[in-house]
Amino acid sequence: MFFRMLKGWMPRSLFGRSALIVLVPVSVTLMVVTVVFIQRLYEGVTEQMTLALSHEALLILDRVEAAADPAGALEQALEVAAPLDIEIAAGAPGVETRRGIFDLSGRTVVDVVFREIPGVLAVDLVSRDGWARIVIASSKGPVELIVPRGRLSARNPHQFLVLIGVTAILMSLVALIYLRNQVRPVRRLAFAAEAFGKGRVVPYRPSGAAEVRSAGTAFLDMRDRIERQIEQRTLMLSGVSHDLRTPLTRLQLGLSLIEDSEDVEAMRRDLKDMEAMLEAFLAFARGDALEAPERVDPIALARDLVEQMARNLPVLAGPMAGEGSAMLRPQALRRALENLINNGVRYGKEARLSVEVTSEAIVFVVEDSGAGIPEAQRDEVLRPFSRLDEARNQNRGSGVGLGLTIAADIARQHGGRLELGESRDLGGLRAELIIPR
Ligand SMILES: Nc1ncnc2c1ncn2[C@@H]1O[C@H](COP(=O)(O)OP(=O)(O)OP(=O)(O)O)[C@@H](O)[C@H]1O
Ligand SMILES: [Mg+2]
Repeated sequence: MFFRMLKGWMPRSLFGRSALIVLVPVSVTLMVVTVVFIQRLYEGVTEQMTLALSHEALLILDRVEAAADPAGALEQALEVAAPLDIEIAAGAPGVETRRGIFDLSGRTVVDVVFREIPGVLAVDLVSRDGWARIVIASSKGPVELIVPRGRLSARNPHQFLVLIGVTAILMSLVALIYLRNQVRPVRRLAFAAEAFGKGRVVPYRPSGAAEVRSAGTAFLDMRDRIERQIEQRTLMLSGVSHDLRTPLTRLQLGLSLIEDSEDVEAMRRDLKDMEAMLEAFLAFARGDALEAPERVDPIALARDLVEQMARNLPVLAGPMAGEGSAMLRPQALRRALENLINNGVRYGKEARLSVEVTSEAIVFVVEDSGAGIPEAQRDEVLRPFSRLDEARNQNRGSGVGLGLTIAADIARQHGGRLELGESRDLGGLRAELIIPR
């Protein structure tokens, strides 16, 4: 319970935690030193000084007692008091025992004086700044001794405390600066890794302590390997698609020379389908992986796309809320949304695109009024070349089954995801393309 509460209070960042690890021991040590110093040394010294003064006061009192009359008493006492740097006056009434709130040694002074000098009436540490007034009863009436405060307790003990305090603060500052320099490489590594997760490659060079450096090197190796793999996949797929095109064109040419018949017509249609598939395949392979991210206003992009597509398709603009820009790959993003909208138009009557921009994410939503996709099949349609049963797709043109795969791929390139659901407003499919910021 207590530890859980403590956990809630702990700073979350590495720097905050390291700072705590440095500052807590320093402040605890400082506190212990201060308390011990005040109690042991400061009070001890004060007690000894006050004790010495009490003895001098007793000496002066002896003179007062020994005098024959009150007038001579003061004179006699002064003989001893003057060299001791103590002033004497006939007792003034109305002097009370008082000390300042922050007068740490005052209590010790008062205690010792009362303990050592019999007949003390009052010890006033306040009414005369820098002086102590001690009123003592004698047979000649009350006598007041006025002593410089500096003779009762060590002066300026604060200097010592201030010195430790300043040193502690200075050393802590140096430690914090050093700490921050140690934390920076970790933060840079985290930044590079996060950016790569969102599909961005930012310049990064391992630096800092050995462990951070080796983590950074490992990250770079991993990033290179993933990039190489993407590149290889792209090269291989586009190579295959490209090489298939040549014989396909030759076949088409050959067919056009053959006399028309029903069989030839069917073959031509198959060839056309193959070509379309190849086209889609090429687009998928290209993957826009090479497009560099740039600062884009997602709402402007969405409005633009709807306006363009609405010219010859039933495409509507839904609510577009929020504002702000983000680092995105605009061409890839347009292609993903086009695929979703084309699906909506093809499998429903119309498609609607809406956007919501928050501080955490950009969410593009494409909805349609079609039959939707049953929950059990939502994973399946995301796989390449998967199409739902032909009966559903009758007379809806020939798709390849790559549209959703490409859209999901592009979402992943941005560190996001594609989620399929059911549209509450339109009744058909609701495709959400979510990109974290
Ligand atoms: N909005 C939708 N409503 C209902 N079914 C859909 C919807 N979008 C996709 N589907 C189903 O999911 C399948 C896969 O869609 P996907 O976009 O990946 O491929 P496609 O549309 O068949 O071909 P293309 O590669 O030309 O886009 C479709 O064949 C269709 O059966
Ligand atoms: Mg499609």
